[in-house]
Amino acid sequence: MIDKEQKYEALVAQAKAMSEVETDDIALMANVAAIIHETFHFWWTGFYRVVGDELVLGPFQGPVACTRIAFGRGVCGTAWKEKCTIVVDDVEQFKGHIACSSASRSEIVVPIFCNDEVVAVLDIDSEKLATFDDTDKKYLEKITTLYLSPKSTFLR
Ligand code: SME
Repeated sequence: MIDKEQKYEALVAQAKAMSEVETDDIALMANVAAIIHETFHFWWTGFYRVVGDELVLGPFQGPVACTRIAFGRGVCGTAWKEKCTIVVDDVEQFKGHIACSSASRSEIVVPIFCNDEVVAVLDIDSEKLATFDDTDKKYLEKITTLYLSPKSTFLR
């Protein structure tokens, strides 16, 4: 049985390989969403990009999602405002959570930075409670910091 850490190690290696051959941030986000989603079979895996004063839906895997999220709104807008990863064990307990799908029960949102400013967020939803822990946080931050943030100058 391959454990979560081993799966994430493989994901990190894949993200590294992808980032070495692709310079377009949207293409990279699309394939990073795909490999995470295919590995863990989460409910929804995708990106929102900062466009002006909103987050706008970017590449994702999973059901249709809301397209725009205001600064400070929902889990995504809060991660943007607070400039830190947010792990939510039960979305019903998160004040202001935006329910794009009623099936979503827990969530993690990881900001992506360019020159200390948030330029996008990685958002992952699970249909099970308390799916995400420190291992998810550690590896998802590693992937965004090492392989997406350096490319994020293209987002600006
Ligand atoms: N639940 C998010 C909205 C995005 S969807 O989950 C894809 C939030 O509260 O920001």
